[in-house]
This record gives sequence, C-alpha cells and structure tokens, in this order.
Amino acid sequence: MKLILTYIRKHLGIFLLSTFFLASEALCDLLQPTFMSYIVDDGVRNADIGRILFYGLIMTGIALCGAFCAVMRNRFASRTSQTVGKELRRDMYRSVQRLSMENIDRLQPASIITRITNDVTQVQEFINSMMRMMVKAPLTCIGAIVLITIQTPVQAPVIVAIVFAAALLIFGNMKIAYPRFGRVQSKLDRLNGVTREYLSAVRVVKAFRAEKEEAKKFEEASFEMLDEQSEPEDRKNAAPLVRPRGDIELRHVSFCYLPGQPVLKDISVKIPAGTQTAIVGTTGSGKTTVINLLTRFYDVSEGCIFLDGHDLRDYRMEDLREAFGVVLQDTALFAATVSENICYGHPEAGQEQIRQAAKTAGADGFIERLPQGYHTVLEQGGMELSQGERQLLTIARAVLADAPILILDEATSSVDTVTEQRIRRALLEICKDRTSVIIAHRLSTIRDSDLILLLENGEIAEQGTHEELMNLDGRYAQMYKMQTGTYEKAAKAAEREGA
Ligand SMILES: Nc1ncnc2c1ncn2[C@@H]1O[C@H](COP(=O)(O)OP(=O)(O)OP(=O)(O)O)[C@@H](O)[C@H]1O
Ligand SMILES: [Mg+2]
Repeated sequence: MKLILTYIRKHLGIFLLSTFFLASEALCDLLQPTFMSYIVDDGVRNADIGRILFYGLIMTGIALCGAFCAVMRNRFASRTSQTVGKELRRDMYRSVQRLSMENIDRLQPASIITRITNDVTQVQEFINSMMRMMVKAPLTCIGAIVLITIQTPVQAPVIVAIVFAAALLIFGNMKIAYPRFGRVQSKLDRLNGVTREYLSAVRVVKAFRAEKEEAKKFEEASFEMLDEQSEPEDRKNAAPLVRPRGDIELRHVSFCYLPGQPVLKDISVKIPAGTQTAIVGTTGSGKTTVINLLTRFYDVSEGCIFLDGHDLRDYRMEDLREAFGVVLQDTALFAATVSENICYGHPEAGQEQIRQAAKTAGADGFIERLPQGYHTVLEQGGMELSQGERQLLTIARAVLADAPILILDEATSSVDTVTEQRIRRALLEICKDRTSVIIAHRLSTIRDSDLILLLENGEIAEQGTHEELMNLDGRYAQMYKMQTGTYEKAAKAAEREGA
C-alpha cells in the first residue's frame, strides 16, 4: 500500500486531475434528483410546460457534463494506473536482475513471473477501484445528505441515523472480513505458485517421485522481493561504468560454490576487446561457472577478474549488468507476448526495433508463423516453443539490449541442424565488433572464434584457435572429429532416405 502511494505520488498531477473529474462526475449525479424535484414541484404541479422543458434542458446539460467528466476521469485514471503499472514492472524487473542467485533459488522463477505479471495487474485494478471507492462513494454520500438537509430539514436526523448505522455495519464487516480476505489471497498465491511449478516441472517431479515434497512447498508473500537484499554488494566507492570497451582478463581465478570443493582452479586468460572467445568442455567442467563470475552472480574465491583494467568489484553492479548482454542456458521466457519477451527490460523499444532485433537473431521466420505473430501470447512461458526457438528469442532480446559485451550459454546441443545454422549466423552477426564469450556444445558453431578454451575439471586443458587445437590433436581435436563424424553419418543417412 505504502509502495503504491510512492508510485502514485510521482504522478500526482494526473492522479489529482482524475480525482477532480471523478468529483465533478459525482456532483453531476447528485444534481439530477434536485432538478427532478423542481420539475415535479414547479412544473407538473402548476401544469407549466415551459418550466418542465426548461429544467429538462438543464438536466440534459448536466447529464452531458457528467458524461464528459466520466470520460476524462476514465482517461486520466487509466493513464495513472498504466504508468504506475509500467514503472512497477520495470522496477521489479530491475530488482530481479539484482537478486543474488541464492534469492532467485529461494523465490523461484515461477513465483517471480507471477509477481511481475499478475501482481502488477492487481495493483492497477486496485488503483482504479481505490479511486472509485475512496473518492466517489463518500462524495456522493455526503453530497446526498447535504442536499436532503437543505431541501427537507425535517428528515435530516432520520437520514443521518440511518447512514450512521450503515457505516457501523460496514465497518464491522470489514474488520472481520479483511484479515480473512488476506488469508484467502495468500493461500491462492501459494496454490498458484505450487501449481505452476508443478505443471512446468511435472516430468522431472514425476521422474524423482517427489510429488509429496512438492505439495508441501509454499511461497513467500507478495512484493517482498522488492525489499530483497542484493548480493554481492557494491563496494563503498564503486565506480560508474559507461559502455566499457570490453577488455577482460581473468588472473589466477579460483572458485568454489561450497567450501573446499573448487570448481574452477587457477584460471588465467586474456580476452581482448572485440574478440570472440568460446568455452567448451564436458558437462560439469565449469563453463557456466565462468560466466557466473563474469556477470558477478558470484564473486571469485581467489584471484581477480578485470574489465577494462579494473577489478569487476570496483564497478557498480547495476552498470555491470547493463554492460553484459546475457543469453543463459536455461532460457528465461515469460508468460507474455513474443514482443514483450523480446523487449524485456527495454519497455521503451518500438515495434519496429523489436522486429529488427528478431530479424537479426533469425527469429522472425518462426515468429511470423505463430498464430498472432509478434502478439502471440506464450501462455506456457515458452514451453510451447522448441528449445532452439526459445534460444533464438533470447538472442533477439540480447540484440535489442545492444550490450557491449555478449555472453551466451548455448543450449543448442539438441537443436536441429537448420536451427543451429540460424543460431550460428545470428551469432556471427551480433558478435561483430563486440566482445563475446560463448559456451558451445556443438563445436562447429564456434569454429571461427578468435580463442577457444577447453575446460576440464575446472582447469584450462587446451587453448588456441580451431586450427591450432586441431593441429595439437588433443582432446579438442578428438571431440571435434567425433561430432563431425556423426554429422557425416547423419547426412548420409538422410541422403539415402531421400533417394
Ligand atoms: N549453485 C551451485 N552450487 C553448488 N555447486 C554447483 C552450483 N552450480 C554448479 N555447481 C557445480 O559446479 C560444477 C561446474 O558446474 P557448471 O555449471 O559450471 O558446469 P558446465 O560446464 O556449465 O556444465 P554444462 O555443460 O552441463 O552446462 C559442477 O560440478 C556443478 O555440480
Ligand atoms: Mg553450463
């Protein structure tokens, strides 16, 4: 409630304007019966057609005036609630970006999505209804009492007594019902979260037979996330960072998620600005962890990471997150339209910009084929798309963000070759002139990288260009031959089938 008020305060002008029109509307409503009584008392009783017409005309005027006020009130009220809603969404999105991984794990993506979409809509409705309830209803009530008192003073005490009794009843009712309403809401929230999560993870849950535990889980109260502490924290005199060049250096970096269990061991590597670096390696070798450190989802345990010559920890977290365009392995799409998904975090982007970004990412083809194109709502948060399509959408999002450094944790290991080609082309296009770090499972995607790092058990086992590593004839060469070998076989099989 307090939170909503701070947002409304920012748009006090429009808010007051709509309140003004609301009050005028109430006044018009109140005046009608008064003139009705004049018609009866003056006109009808004296059989004076002229008077009847005269008051009738005034009533029509008032009705028109009331209608005008209603339209204006509607306009300004919607504008207030829309703007507040938009700002709330933007701020919530920002605070999601600042959430530490621990907090994200705790709040759970399903609940975060519910909050950004449903809760904000509820707040908007609340603002609308608050104005109606808190301004129009009392005004009408008080105005009516005043009018009655003026016109028939004898009845006034009776009316006041009735209103007083009614107010008492309503108050008592609210006192009892309000806490219950709150409880219902939080239970609904819980149910909503658990159901959503259950549905989206139903296969996994079933596989582990964890249904019972899952049923016990519950969610936190709404909006708590806005108060959430972000971790790691900014240093006291953290420096601002505006469009970095993108020189990255890891110097003797080690890291453990759990004490005593190093996941990265003494990694040193230089990534010059404007170059493309690929990280490859078997599952669990620490590739995603490198990215977690670069984007400061976690801080290094030992050593240092430099960006443009300064320790990452010397920059403001907010600027840092803006410097990195990140496409993560587990793509985060939301139950919103395709367009909204692409411009997430950049609500100011226009339709044309969104289309352009989708085109660059090579995602426009499949988007156009969706039932409502860019306006198709991804009801299941993207689960109705293929893995490759989801990735193309998140690449489009990164294109739109236009960050100087691009990070991509590829999830394309199970993507068909056509989509893979598309992703590869999209990458070539957006990696142009910017520093990029790409984790790839299909080695053919990253053949053209300036530097390839092969991680093994958290250490750099091999590094160099594709040619250099092929000449080395070590692990990388072995992996590459294995992958391309299967490709050739698959291609031959397809040829035979076609023939
Ligand atoms: N949040 C975490 N807490 C504890 N251990 C973790 C966490 N995240 C990853 N690990 C561990 O760190 C190691 C490296 O994980 P990482 O995600 O970096 O691997 P990866 O190379 O990206 O694998 P993949 O190819 O499957 O994506 C793994 O052994 C993993 O179990
Ligand atoms: Mg990974």
